[in-house]
Amino acid sequence: MTQHNNIPVKPKVTPIYQTSVFTFDDLTELEAYFEQPSQRYMYARYSNPNANELAEEVSKLEQGDGGVVTSSGMSAIFTAILLFCQSGDHVLCAEEIYGGSAVLLNQELNRMGISVSYVPVEDLYDLTAFVKPNTRLLLAETMSNPLLRVLDIARLATACHSKNIKLVIDNTFASPVVTRPLSLGADVVIHSVTKYLAGHSDVTAGVVVTKGEEQVNRIRKIMMHLGLNLSPFESWLAVRGLKTLRLRIKQHSSNALAIAQYLDQYPKVNRVYYPGLATHPDHELASQQGQGLFGGMLSFAIADDEEVVNTFMRSLPTIPFAPSLAGVSTSISHPVRTSHRSLNPAKRDALGITMGVIRLSVGVEEPEEILAELEAALNAI
Ligand SMILES: Cc1ncc(COP(=O)(O)O)c(C=O)c1O
Repeated sequence: MTQHNNIPVKPKVTPIYQTSVFTFDDLTELEAYFEQPSQRYMYARYSNPNANELAEEVSKLEQGDGGVVTSSGMSAIFTAILLFCQSGDHVLCAEEIYGGSAVLLNQELNRMGISVSYVPVEDLYDLTAFVKPNTRLLLAETMSNPLLRVLDIARLATACHSKNIKLVIDNTFASPVVTRPLSLGADVVIHSVTKYLAGHSDVTAGVVVTKGEEQVNRIRKIMMHLGLNLSPFESWLAVRGLKTLRLRIKQHSSNALAIAQYLDQYPKVNRVYYPGLATHPDHELASQQGQGLFGGMLSFAIADDEEVVNTFMRSLPTIPFAPSLAGVSTSISHPVRTSHRSLNPAKRDALGITMGVIRLSVGVEEPEEILAELEAALNAI
């Protein structure tokens, strides 16, 4: 219990500790910090109560032994890769991955001496042809961005461990309400907290959760030494969002299923990508791994024509075109021009990410409201 002007202060919610540094009475107290750094606070970049609270809450949800929060999802991926890799090492990456993750690997880690090879989804469960003596890890997403392929995490973990490499899972699209990769054998799970965990489109943050004291300590050091920490205020906002994660994911999921079913029978929609549809290639796996929830993200393809896409976007009465996802209100995005912009166009086409693919981040509004908007825009094309 803390005191202020001799009055006991017992807030129900952790206050925002908006301070860059913490104070010490004397050298004895300072030495006590160095003896047990996890029991005290010294400098906000090392740790602060709000960041710690967020890391602990996510670690609990992901059934990890501990975690760190970072300034963004990108810095979380960077931290996870540096946990296992150094110059001269090689990483494998699922071919269907967030474009920013590919850019990090291709343009930044590559020039630091960490090389990358991409593995098509159908080859992920036997890595023999891809593993090299210096391969350290595989990076993959539980549900891929933007075509919503679902990976069998337990099978993937077995495939990785049989080759003596680690499995790093980006669980951003699924959230721990749908899938808990660590409990299925993954070594590290990361999130762009910016998305479902914070959930209100007002925070940029990341988190890395892992197992084992040694690995937990190592990710803390990487975050601290590289200055990848998250501010107290953003941590506080994300903790606040996290409190409704379960409720939100249930509503996102049931809305997305209703919308996917509607779009699937709409003549101007050529294809719908949603694991909740029986026609999706990973439907059975997704049903069992996600405990009946398929998440709030779906993609669908209209004509591969820029003008048609523009007409569709302009004809949505209120749903905005916003190149992010997972907020409480519905938004759309366009993978070719945003998240997957930097991918080689031929590769993008081969993956099926074409001009007409629209990514829908289904919000928690009443489903009829979202359907009415989509119908208005589809009628206009
Ligand atoms: C699946 C996935 N992982 C990681 C990121 C990166 O997160 P951030 O933008 O918070 O750095 C994103 C961003 O869109 C994403 O969609």
